[in-house]
Amino acid sequence: MTTPAGDLTARAPSRLNGAVLLTADPAVAAAALADGHLAAVPTETVYGLGARADLPHAVARVYAAKGRPADHPLIVHVRDAQAAWSWASHVPMWAHALAEAFWPGPLTLVLPRSARAGDFITGGQDTVALRVSAHPGFGQVLDQLATLLDDPSVGVAAPSANRFGRVSPTTAQHVVDELTEALGPHDVILEGGPSRVGVESTIVDCTGPAPVILRPGHVSAEQVEQVTGAATGEHSTVRAPGTLASHYAPRAAVSLISAEALDDLQPQDARTGLLALASIATPPGIVRLAAPENADDYARDLYSALREADALELSRVVAIPPSPAGIGAAVIDRLERAATR
Ligand code: TXA
Ligand code: MG
Repeated sequence: MTTPAGDLTARAPSRLNGAVLLTADPAVAAAALADGHLAAVPTETVYGLGARADLPHAVARVYAAKGRPADHPLIVHVRDAQAAWSWASHVPMWAHALAEAFWPGPLTLVLPRSARAGDFITGGQDTVALRVSAHPGFGQVLDQLATLLDDPSVGVAAPSANRFGRVSPTTAQHVVDELTEALGPHDVILEGGPSRVGVESTIVDCTGPAPVILRPGHVSAEQVEQVTGAATGEHSTVRAPGTLASHYAPRAAVSLISAEALDDLQPQDARTGLLALASIATPPGIVRLAAPENADDYARDLYSALREADALELSRVVAIPPSPAGIGAAVIDRLERAATR
């Protein structure tokens, strides 16, 4: 199936395989969630597969649909910072400052949990991950869910809407391709356009004396240090099992190379795809998967390009990474994990 960037549901909502409903109406997704069903939702980072964070049986279905181990905790998505704090038992001043600076946005804060965050969300840990997404469609889902349940701090637990260990989805079509089989007749996929950022949120552990970046993203370590006035720490006692060495992997074997090494690619590498900044030319016989102008575009195009490699049945993808400044660090992180077997 191809991956159109446009709106899949501009015309009418449609049932896929006679089952999952694809819709562009946030109210439909909110109603499904309220009833304990699943809704794949757009965020500015990647699409998530959501369930009400207060319903163990709904959350269990998220794990089942993804094929994800039960001890891998989920991020709870809420409408605003005030709602977030009801899920946490203690919030340091500098975590308030991070929320103020970057929410709504591509930032997740790990905090000591309140009684609201059950073991079935946190993987049994005493911490909870919280995020306020900037995607307006998901914002409407949360607003309407809050109204339906008469709970302004309602949470939606949502991991990235991909099978465990695979590439995260950045379009509704990616979710359709990957999860239709795993979803049921009452579940919903909400179309919200291509994800603007393209790689998962920055995760900051806020349980120690200083912020620790558990996963790099669009919000950079420099920005976190600037806002908190603290140097980011190296060591965290928090376990973030999803940040495994091998992750975000397509079927094709991924390797990182330098621009100089590109000249040495052999003709037998015909089934090879290339990811590199537009300033780097494509050698003959190599399939160009993406030619982003800068690191932001690299992040936005990365996962579509890795999916394209599989669609083209390439055996190998070589990537020339961007420089590590800003979101470049997150792109390099994801490429390295995609390259780890
Ligand atoms: O951009 C994103 O963060 C996307 C969108 C959908 O919000 N979500 C996402 O979720 O990437 P997921 O589940 O694919 O990755 C969440 C990561 C995992 O590595 C998990 O281990 C970590 O967050 N995590 C969740 N709760 C945690 C906690 N209490 N302590 C430490 N790490 C946690
Ligand atoms: Mg994920």
